[in-house]
Amino acid sequence: MACLLVTGGAGFIGANFVHYWMNEYPADRVIVLDALTYAGNIQNLAPVNDKSNFRFVHGDIGDTKLVESLLRTENVDTLVHFAAESHVDRSIAGPDAFLETNIMGTHSLLKAARQVWMTEGLNPQNHRFHHVSTDEVFGELTPEEPAFTEKTAYAPNSPYSASKAASDFLVRAYHHTYGLNVTTSNCSNNYGPYHFPEKLIPLVTLNILHGKTLPVYGDGSNVRDWLYVEDHAYGIDLVLKKGKLGETYNIGGVNEWKNIDIVRLICRLVEEKFATDESLKTRFPDCPASRGEANDSLISFVTDRPGHDFRYAIDTTYIRDELGYKPKVTFEEGIRKTLDWYLDNEDWWRAVMDGSYQDWINTNYAQMSR
Ligand code: NAD
Ligand code: TYD
Repeated sequence: MACLLVTGGAGFIGANFVHYWMNEYPADRVIVLDALTYAGNIQNLAPVNDKSNFRFVHGDIGDTKLVESLLRTENVDTLVHFAAESHVDRSIAGPDAFLETNIMGTHSLLKAARQVWMTEGLNPQNHRFHHVSTDEVFGELTPEEPAFTEKTAYAPNSPYSASKAASDFLVRAYHHTYGLNVTTSNCSNNYGPYHFPEKLIPLVTLNILHGKTLPVYGDGSNVRDWLYVEDHAYGIDLVLKKGKLGETYNIGGVNEWKNIDIVRLICRLVEEKFATDESLKTRFPDCPASRGEANDSLISFVTDRPGHDFRYAIDTTYIRDELGYKPKVTFEEGIRKTLDWYLDNEDWWRAVMDGSYQDWINTNYAQMSR
């Protein structure tokens, strides 16, 4: 039996990871440490909240003493670190929180882990610090360039990716210098349930339902490599169970899409849903599909994101050959499951959209629109 401390477990990927883990390994104990920023939502953990082997702790990863005490009292052997400021547009509007949480916060966790597991000798051999990072640390690709491998040089371009790159280096340094048992994974863009509606896929989905503009940055030709979130959790599972200490693994969907094509695809899938389910027209009367009109009439090309990385793509050869990783969910399946989840969980996203995020969206997207 293992005891995991999952930071950022009330966020999008962290919560999906907790659900995945508690389903796969019901005998393990899982503690979530989350500060519940605008992106954290305790409702994301509702399905596990009353389980005896689950505990939620409201706190900041920057609180080193709190983390130390959790590692000690819960006898944690595995720390999986998701907590971060994660939205590129917010990092452009205000980088400070990104440096604080992503860099200083990660360092606080590393210090606590070293102190309790190594210096105090609670678990000098079999501990693990797994750091969840992003493919954005590698910078951007042209259409012709090969996908990022683990050997691609770091070249972060946004305050978000620069802060994640810094945290990756700190994790590496704690392994090299102090012998902390670390692993890191760099993943491509995730999508799926509980995705906060400031990110492209949920934002477009909900805006279509409400007949609101779909803001596509620039000409929509930027490319992202999309992975269903459960397949990210599965990749981290393989790294935790079979990964080499000190190693980094790229996780990706080998599933590249231009933004405009994703937006058009979601428009079409929503139309298909409305064609087969009359009740959707009553629930979402402002959706163009309710009037038999094309959803893509809502698309609006807006001012590009400053420094917008053109293309990300992950080469998954290493994790496939070393750990046998292969995504389980096809994009066709994953995007349909995601749309169904948003249609079935209106209470979840209505509550999220009533929150402070809405004010931010209103101010920032108003400025970005042409
Ligand atoms: P998210 O923004 O949805 O969730 C982040 C969570 O961290 C929230 O619950 C928030 O409350 C919590 N948090 C923030 N600051 C904290 C602090 N100081 N102390 C404690 N908790 C804090 O992010 P996400 O999309 O779930 O991403 C999770 C991790 O995965 C991040 O490290 C991100 O860089 C990485 N990642 C994300 C993607 C993606 O597509 N979303 C892709 C690759 C890697
Ligand atoms: P996002 O979901 O913010 O993820 P990331 O920036 O980490 O890749 O954005 C995905 C892509 O979609 C990115 O190229 C920016 C673009 N985008 C839009 O065109 N319009 C939007 O409203 C948003 C949020 C993103």
